[in-house]
Amino acid sequence: MHSIDRKLSVAPMLDWTDRHCRYFLRLISRHTLLYTEMITTGALIHGDRERFLRYDPTEHPVALQLGGSDPKDLAQCARMAEDWGYDEINLNVGCPSDRVQNGRFGACLMAEPALVAECVTAMRAAVRVPVTVKHRIGIDERDSYAELVDFVGHLNAAGCDAIIVHARKAWLKGLSPKENRDIPPLRYEVVRALKRDFPERPIIVNGGIKTLDETTDFLRDLDGVMIGREAYHNPWILAEADQRVFGDDHPVPTRRQVLESFIPYAERQLAAGVPMNAMSQHLLGLFQGQPGARAWRRRISEQAHRPGAGVEVLGVGDHARL
Ligand SMILES: Cc1cc2nc3c(=O)[nH]c(=O)nc-3n(C[C@H](O)[C@H](O)[C@H](O)COP(=O)(O)O)c2cc1C
Repeated sequence: MHSIDRKLSVAPMLDWTDRHCRYFLRLISRHTLLYTEMITTGALIHGDRERFLRYDPTEHPVALQLGGSDPKDLAQCARMAEDWGYDEINLNVGCPSDRVQNGRFGACLMAEPALVAECVTAMRAAVRVPVTVKHRIGIDERDSYAELVDFVGHLNAAGCDAIIVHARKAWLKGLSPKENRDIPPLRYEVVRALKRDFPERPIIVNGGIKTLDETTDFLRDLDGVMIGREAYHNPWILAEADQRVFGDDHPVPTRRQVLESFIPYAERQLAAGVPMNAMSQHLLGLFQGQPGARAWRRRISEQAHRPGAGVEVLGVGDHARL
């Protein structure tokens, strides 16, 4: 069994945490655990597997997030992911989108704890790497602490290796996925209560966390912190994570060094046919709050989508202030 340090992770985010984004984030922090976008079992079993699973070896530690609810399919996909070298397999029980509900997976599975436990059991039997679940604190009217404890109790009994809790409930009808990330209030005290009730189980908190100060604070009671949107919009918050969270004292690179290190990767990807924009969109937050950041972002936004755009749009070498 691999041992993964989950003290800090970047959340799975559809369209955002693709392999280019993860490569970039890895240049900022060596130890933060990275998650893929959610990939459905249907896409992996029937679609272009290589497209969904490939990643750069430097991305480790990297976890694959699956969406599905058929134990056999999930076991098959978990095995595929293990064969491709992923360090952890995570099951999405937190996404409230209509598309996902129609497929009977994501957050609606919180109403079916026995099925989720069956999925975890099947996946664990299929692989040696850890199997984890990411879920909400409740859905719709099913939002009492007793129901949450029942759900987590099922995961616990199935041996789920870590439990990642987005500390707000989801409304399956009436709110869009985006609203479901903002409107239901954050209730960190519920996640802390879970840790008290399941002290042996690694419990990771997610939702609304924006700084390493908050992270280290949570780490006093909980096993890990997962950051989503802030890590994407302001990735430099990860720059001191290796020192402050993981106790690795290697020197922190500068933003410029990170950008320069991305260039050879971007050149390789361009040569393989990846459009510049598919990579550069994930870099836009790099200089957040720095002088010249806005002009730099504008230049990329205006130029990166043009046919033939290359690494020059990243402005290395001619933006002395950055
Ligand atoms: C653009 C976007 C896409 C997301 N896609 C996924 C996903 O594929 N799987 C998942 O479990 N959560 C997904 N989420 C939710 C995040 O993983 C996270 O739980 C949520 O954003 C709350 O954390 P934060 O406040 O730190 O962003 C997504 C969030 C965003 C903003």
